[in-house]
Amino acid sequence: MSLLFSPTKLGPLSLKNRLVMSPLTRNRAVGNVPNDLMAEYYAQRAASVGLIITEGTSPSPNGLGYPRIPGAFSEAQVAGWRKVTNAVHAKGTKIFLQFMHTGRIGHPNNLPAGAAVIGPSAVAAAGEIYTDAEGPKPHPVPKAMTEADIKTAIGEYAHAAKNAVAAGFDGVELHGANGYLLEQFIRPSSNRRTDAYGGPIENRARLVLEVVKAAIAAIGKDKVGIRLSPYGAFNDMPPYAEMEADYTYLARQLSALGILYVHVVDHSPMGAPTVPQSIKDTFRKEFKGALILSGGYDLARAEADLAAGKADLIAVGRPILANPDLIERWKVGAALNPPDPTTFYTPGPKGYTDYPVLTKEPQPA
Ligand SMILES: Cc1cc2nc3c(=O)[nH]c(=O)nc-3n(C[C@H](O)[C@H](O)[C@H](O)COP(=O)(O)O)c2cc1C
Repeated sequence: MSLLFSPTKLGPLSLKNRLVMSPLTRNRAVGNVPNDLMAEYYAQRAASVGLIITEGTSPSPNGLGYPRIPGAFSEAQVAGWRKVTNAVHAKGTKIFLQFMHTGRIGHPNNLPAGAAVIGPSAVAAAGEIYTDAEGPKPHPVPKAMTEADIKTAIGEYAHAAKNAVAAGFDGVELHGANGYLLEQFIRPSSNRRTDAYGGPIENRARLVLEVVKAAIAAIGKDKVGIRLSPYGAFNDMPPYAEMEADYTYLARQLSALGILYVHVVDHSPMGAPTVPQSIKDTFRKEFKGALILSGGYDLARAEADLAAGKADLIAVGRPILANPDLIERWKVGAALNPPDPTTFYTPGPKGYTDYPVLTKEPQPA
């Protein structure tokens, strides 16, 4: 019997299966507002999964570091997201909004007027960021956030969480992974602060835990999950000695706060450094809520990890990006469409809503 294809519960939510669509930035939100094309894209994939986690969406104008990514702070954005949640719920699928504040990963060219590239400390990330106006540009040195900036950002997450519920989302996922604002505070290479938000892990974890508490106060702990990338190196996040201890601390604190789930990223199938099984086991042991694992899953590995009790749910990114009918293909053992990286982040329907689905054999009359 397939565990992956069987219904389950995620806290109070009933899910039709244990497959989750990973958050995937697709840069189709022209003007930072979700639109009909995005509703079509999510609806296409909703039939395959029990839970969709949306692309990274900024709770603040300051967090719109990439071109054409959506926000969740304005009324127009709430109205746009409402189309998406309606289309997904019509397929019997739950949907969470991922909050991605890009922090120091960004460029003034990509930000609306009045917004700024901010971070824990004035330390630029190595590498470049794409801008529509001028192509790739070096990451700028971010403005080091004052305590007032930190309070503002926490308030923006809380406001956006309320907006998410108003837009019909079943909950929110805080993006604490992949080198964005929350992880910039967790990691000592990007956080050089000497105040209550820098130094020992109790301080470096303060922002993420305050954001979690603010989201819980805004919408309730059953509607809050978080994505973390222990050992992740993406966006200039080098390894350091206390990694295992720091993430163990986070697992315990998040468990005490009682949030719905932790979603652990493993990008080693994309060529990133290995994520030791020991840290995944630590989250399984220390965190009492649900655990979602992601990264390089195919059907066999998903079933094996569910059967071994390593995770409650399995998330997939590139397979569902390229195969809206992924679950049907897995059920019948059909070949998968390969993803086309040249259209991952380009505007318009090409490589977005035009991936082919299996054609059904004509039935005898
Ligand atoms: C095009 C693309 C966009 C992505 N955007 C996000 C994002 O917005 N938020 C996030 O947490 N991860 C993002 N990721 C990472 C994926 O969620 C996932 O962890 C990764 O693709 C590995 O899973 P897979 O092997 O199933 O594809 C992105 C990955 C890809 C390929």
